[in-house]
Amino acid sequence: MTASALPAPILFSNDLLTGAEWNPAGTRGLLQLTADIKARPGRYASTLQGKFIALIFEKPSLRTRVTFEVGIQSMGGSVVFLDHSQARLGERESIADVARNLERWVQGIVARVYDQKVLEELAVNADIPVINALSDRFHPCQALADYFTLEEKFGSLRGFKLAYVGDGNNVCHSLIFLAARLGVHLRVATPPNYEPAAEVVAEAKRVARETRAKIELFSDPCEAVGGAQGVYTDSWTSMGFEAEEKARNAVFQPYQVNRELMAHAAPDAVFLHCLPAHRGLEVTAGVLDGRQSVVLDQSENRMYVQKAILHMLF
Ligand code: CP
Ligand code: NVA
Repeated sequence: MTASALPAPILFSNDLLTGAEWNPAGTRGLLQLTADIKARPGRYASTLQGKFIALIFEKPSLRTRVTFEVGIQSMGGSVVFLDHSQARLGERESIADVARNLERWVQGIVARVYDQKVLEELAVNADIPVINALSDRFHPCQALADYFTLEEKFGSLRGFKLAYVGDGNNVCHSLIFLAARLGVHLRVATPPNYEPAAEVVAEAKRVARETRAKIELFSDPCEAVGGAQGVYTDSWTSMGFEAEEKARNAVFQPYQVNRELMAHAAPDAVFLHCLPAHRGLEVTAGVLDGRQSVVLDQSENRMYVQKAILHMLF
């Protein structure tokens, strides 16, 4: 295909709430921009000059908070951190009122929330970019950093075989949406009743027809991992689901990523985890801390991909 025949990058929205805001070319463009920002950070040192961004967090965070704070400040912007771990958004005053106030003072909102609907309400009521820093439903910044990490290590993502093993959760949903846009062959293995949401899979399969990505669901982890070039897992109990922890630990035990499961993957396969990890539960210490693990590269790349997101939205 000649360059002029390539589909144009499209940004469907001024917000990043789910990861479906960019068409495949736009998503590819974001990863290319990430590479440039990583290689030549000085070029982007004043992208956010004079801009203030509110960080609203209803849940704990190490990586997301630090990478946004450092990333925004390294682009000349300033951060206002709103700790909502004690009182949820909407409790003291309506989410719409919070949004309408914030847009008078700051130029963007980064929010980590329990309910995806809170993000949507912020976005509808504030005429400034709203970025999802994790919700019950999606974690787009994470999945973008993960695919960037894989592209750095393996080159092209087209047809790349990635296995996700464990809970069909927010991270899994974002990996599915972005796999469809980047042409990845994603195989997801979950126990029954913990599958990713059917509408997320259906939307991704619609996009996958255009990009020749493949999204497959399994219940057998060995089948999903067979020949995979990357094996990904996440905690069995996401933030907000703590009451189910005991039951989940029992259900998910056969889905632990350990040496035996990794032996089904390709010999040069890498291990991925968004972190925080729980050694002895979803992954053994040997795999998490072993030579195949790229988890710290994923963490590092969160900052570059988020800088690219900010550059595109501002
Ligand atoms: N992966 C991730 O989002 O980490 P934090 O919860 O520490 O931000
Ligand atoms: N699925 C996990 C991801 C943490 C970064 C959670 O939501 O707690």
